[in-house]
Amino acid sequence: MATQGSINHALSMTILAECSTSKARASVVRLPHALVDTPVFMPVGTQGTLKGLVPDQLRELDCRIMLGNTYHLGHRPGPDLLEKAGRQLFSYCFSFQDSGGFQMVSLLELAEITEEGVKFRSPHDGSEMLLTPEKSIEIQNSIGADIIMQLDDVVHSSVSGPRLEEAMYRTIRWLDRCIKAHQRPKDQCLFPIVQGGLDAELRTKCAHELIKRDVGGYAIGGLSGGEEKAEFWRMVKISTDLLPKEKPRYLMGVGFAVDLVVCVALGCDMFDCVFPTRTARFGCALVKTGQLNLKSKTFAKDFRPIDSECHCSTCQTYTRAYLHTLANTEPAACNIITVHNVAYQLELMRSMHQSILQDKFPNFVQQFFLTLFPQKG
Ligand code: GUN
Ligand code: ZN
Repeated sequence: MATQGSINHALSMTILAECSTSKARASVVRLPHALVDTPVFMPVGTQGTLKGLVPDQLRELDCRIMLGNTYHLGHRPGPDLLEKAGRQLFSYCFSFQDSGGFQMVSLLELAEITEEGVKFRSPHDGSEMLLTPEKSIEIQNSIGADIIMQLDDVVHSSVSGPRLEEAMYRTIRWLDRCIKAHQRPKDQCLFPIVQGGLDAELRTKCAHELIKRDVGGYAIGGLSGGEEKAEFWRMVKISTDLLPKEKPRYLMGVGFAVDLVVCVALGCDMFDCVFPTRTARFGCALVKTGQLNLKSKTFAKDFRPIDSECHCSTCQTYTRAYLHTLANTEPAACNIITVHNVAYQLELMRSMHQSILQDKFPNFVQQFFLTLFPQKG
């Protein structure tokens, strides 16, 4: 039986099925510009398309939602043009938008965070810029993505103590400024972000504060910064235990297949990561048994497709041997391998969605791990 989850002006979620063993659920999320089955993986298109792909290829892959970047688009084409033509300019691409602060802090070591916002020197022209919660929302309102993110104070997952606590409480204060500044609540859904690093108490406090606010969904941030898997997964569990069941939960920056499977079991619905597209640019193809480094000589005379069971155009058309030749020299290899890697991620999510619908998710998880880590002997 489908249960009606949250209804927000810009987002509604219907839970189609719940796993009887884990916290996994299969849902359909309705957005102004997309109907999305979850669990879903959202590829990252920093500048308006996925690096190495044209939007038509995304359509062919039935990729319904991707992530854009406020900081990059705020710089180019910039707020004026975005205000006039945001949706037309990115008519297909953006269903989702990150707030920009995370990218600035992770890209620019010189970013300085104060209560006002994130101050940094533009890498483009050296000028000083201040991204406040209000400014981030203003840019995101002009771009017009269906889901937009609060500006958050993110610290690396190795940080603890007073700075971690400050960042968590500041994230809540910035959320309230973002909610106040948001001009398009009817067609853009604003997600807050659970912070608190690897501190169970801070994460719990943060989640409790966020759920007091009337929002359409929640993100879990500040993870996947190289921390131990066990700690990472524990923080995800603490967060999903507290977040309301009827609203989507988005785990930020997570894209390794193992983490997608574990975190779907922990109740997460949405994920994004540059990993599948970035690794493709290095000649690396994702498969059920792990990864194929197509630059390796092993593939020089391997005339099989990357994955004989994959339905993507790459696997229908090209051999590993051909891609081996390209991967060492031709930029086109990036495009071709990216198509497959995105197809791989989307198919992984679809199979989880299907297995939850059939109440076979535990079986899926077992098969997934046996394929990835075959039993020896
Ligand atoms: N992307 C990955 N992690 C994060 C995070 O904690 N905050 C934001 N804004 N973006 C992210
Ligand atoms: Zn393929």
